[in-house]
Amino acid sequence: MIIQPRIRGFICTTAHPEGCAANVRQQIAYVKSRPALTRGPKKVLVIGASTGYGLASRIVPAFGGGAATVGVFFEKPGEEGKTGSAGWYNSVAFESEARAAGLYARSFNGDAFSKEMKQQVIDAIRADLGQVDCVIYSLASPRRTDPETGEVYKSVLKPIGEPYTQKNVNTDKAEVNTVSIDPASEEEIAHTVKVMGGEDWELWLHALADAGVLADGATTVAYSYIGPDLTWKIYTEGTIGMAKKHLEESAARLNGRFGAGTAYVSVNKALVTQASSAIPVVPLYISLLYRVMKEAGNHEGCIEQIERLFADHLASEAGPALDDKGRIRIDDWEMRDDIQAKVAALWEQVDTSNLRDISDFDGYQSEFLRLFGFGLEGVDYSAETDPVRALPSA
Ligand code: NAI
Repeated sequence: MIIQPRIRGFICTTAHPEGCAANVRQQIAYVKSRPALTRGPKKVLVIGASTGYGLASRIVPAFGGGAATVGVFFEKPGEEGKTGSAGWYNSVAFESEARAAGLYARSFNGDAFSKEMKQQVIDAIRADLGQVDCVIYSLASPRRTDPETGEVYKSVLKPIGEPYTQKNVNTDKAEVNTVSIDPASEEEIAHTVKVMGGEDWELWLHALADAGVLADGATTVAYSYIGPDLTWKIYTEGTIGMAKKHLEESAARLNGRFGAGTAYVSVNKALVTQASSAIPVVPLYISLLYRVMKEAGNHEGCIEQIERLFADHLASEAGPALDDKGRIRIDDWEMRDDIQAKVAALWEQVDTSNLRDISDFDGYQSEFLRLFGFGLEGVDYSAETDPVRALPSA
């Protein structure tokens, strides 16, 4: 079939297999252009490994340090006449490239929150690798079924306490408008923490350790975001921020059980991913941030961010550098005073008439399409392509 983008609000319901593969190959090429990670982990489990920060977290230790990787994700394989999801095609491409490079790679498609998935992954690690020495937790999900009770929890992106009104961009229409969001109920806050907090991260680590497949001295990292005060009410001080606070408490609990220096929260930069495009206000902030950071020459994507996370922190001789709350900060360039001052000034000015002039809205849109494998150089989008692609490890 000929596969074109089909956009519905903040998602694209189609994905291009060759485009996704080209995207994965570009990320691999970037990692190979960087110095090798001689002190990197050798057996890495990535939970949420198919897109965004998790995919980059699989590519970096594999192609930067020769690590064996196990990936867990929730994606849709393609069918005859119907495309699969981008994360499926990314994972097919990653595994193919890993195998060609002589690297072990195995993937599990299903619900990471379930006991069954944890057991399958544990069995595979035990059989194939013995143990893992690094676990990256990069899930972003709108819902979670509690593995004990079967209750389904849904996360919301809402402010807490009072309504929030802020500028926003309608990405379909390229229009700057104003969005008003009512505050979350206590139940919505609790549900969001249940989905996006650290409970499942802790369950994974406990299950791996109890099964004897977590190596002594293993490290684990989960990802968080802070950002500037203009997004605080919807992010840091909103429902998702409460979940991220819980994630930090989980890190402290994991360090209590497994020893200091086991669990880290890394605060990452705001980037276009499937998860972030669903957050109100954030796409407009990202459009301005990209403009300012590209001008300053310090713009990074997921792969550059995660390469820096490993090179400068996880696999560095000195070990991770931490802020006063014990977190790794690879959002340091985003949060620099000069960058934030410029973004704040542009934020005051931005409206529909100047959106394309003063922000990198075009860059935002092209990066959004690239998430689904569209707009990559060297890919013939007018050619027939087969949407059915098998995972080499399946
Ligand atoms: P993403 O949407 O690109 O990736 C989410 C991953 O989770 C995918 O691999 C997906 O298959 C997997 N997943 C979702 N539900 C699942 C389930 N039930 N079982 C198994 N796998 C499942 O998201 P992104 O943006 O890379 O987010 C990853 C983490 O990074 C999140 O914790 C997010 O809060 C954090 N982060 C993201 C930032 C951003 O700007 N995108 C900034 C800072 C942190």
